[in-house]
Amino acid sequence: MRATVFAIIVLAFGFQTEANAQQQPTLKEAYKGCFLVGAALNPSQFSGRDPAEDALIKAQFNTISPENVLKWEIVHPRLDTYDFSLADKYVEFGQQNHMFIIGHNLVWHSQVPKWVFEDEKGAPVTRDVLLARMRDHISKVVGRYKGRISGWDVVNEALNDDGTLRPSAWKKIIGDDYIEIAFRYAHEADPQAELYYNDYSLENEAKRKGALELVKRLKAKGIAIIGVGTQGHFSLDSPTTNQVDSTIVEFGKLGVKVMITELDVDVLPWPAGGPTADVSLNMASDPKLNPYASGLPDAVQQQLSKRYADLFVTFAKHCGLVSRVTFWGVTDKESWKNNWPVRGRTDYPLLFNRDAQPKPAFGAVIQAAPKSAS
Ligand code: G3I
Repeated sequence: MRATVFAIIVLAFGFQTEANAQQQPTLKEAYKGCFLVGAALNPSQFSGRDPAEDALIKAQFNTISPENVLKWEIVHPRLDTYDFSLADKYVEFGQQNHMFIIGHNLVWHSQVPKWVFEDEKGAPVTRDVLLARMRDHISKVVGRYKGRISGWDVVNEALNDDGTLRPSAWKKIIGDDYIEIAFRYAHEADPQAELYYNDYSLENEAKRKGALELVKRLKAKGIAIIGVGTQGHFSLDSPTTNQVDSTIVEFGKLGVKVMITELDVDVLPWPAGGPTADVSLNMASDPKLNPYASGLPDAVQQQLSKRYADLFVTFAKHCGLVSRVTFWGVTDKESWKNNWPVRGRTDYPLLFNRDAQPKPAFGAVIQAAPKSAS
């Protein structure tokens, strides 16, 4: 008798949990009609190696970005060698699942091989040679996925923190006009694709001002820039939601779409000067900088949920102007934040835990959706 009662309770509880899970909308459903919700994927994710994670990605997201596989060093490692093996799989995954597919990225100072900027003797190439290399790269990569990749981060992180142009090899060799030329080449390769400028820390006044001026200059010259990606590598308290809000508003006034393209929330202490996403940073490890190696305390879990809820309320205030929110990763396990700016830490920046289960922050984001959105 006791066993039967126990079985009934277990069954009833089981059904209830399943029913609740079925009733809970997914991210893409909760924000339908407001903005697309996406994630950056790496090869193990778009090859479906982990069935639980595969199901989660297909259920939750309607847009994807490639974390690394479309970067120059991977698709174009040598002057005469293109390797699209991983990029093709990424695009096939997106097409099979009817997702809005993003290309990231075409022109960046990082993850681009040295040969791009050098002649056979190791001396800097001329402006004309570098322009020819840029055009060949953009036309081959964008052209290959014409009509399949719907939006491209054409130029990535071209600005310093003070809003001036970063002295990258692109700028040094070609000149300041390398940005508009990159957009022209991308437009020529796929006139239908949406073209974006993508950067981090645009919530900070000086850098934002530089980015606003850049977008204005491009638009004044008739360049086909459709949107701006504000990456969104945030911490628990920085930037403020007011800064996030005004960033969206300011870019919106220029008539471009605003996308949160690389969202994550770092819960770990910042060694100095954070948060940023400057990939050149590499700081020494120190146990004090890795306080949650054996688990995230409830209080911090709650702070993370509250932070995510506040951010999504802010994004959703601008439904439509904000056209997409993409997380930089799917689960905490694979997040780049575990290895940057300090290697080998245990961070908790996303909505799904190391077992691909939703964290309390996931529920908070669903709750934050405007009731009319879904
Ligand atoms: O592919 C090699 C592998 O062969 C090698 O064994 C391994 C050893 O460390 O490294 C692998 O390369 C790593 C690569 O990711 C692919 O996993 C690099 O070390 C690592 O530095 C690289 O990090 C990427 C970073 O960009 C590099 O700039 C991160 O995964 C990626 O999340 C990050 O993404 C950037 C965006 O593109 C632009 N905005 C900032 C964002 C975060 O930095």
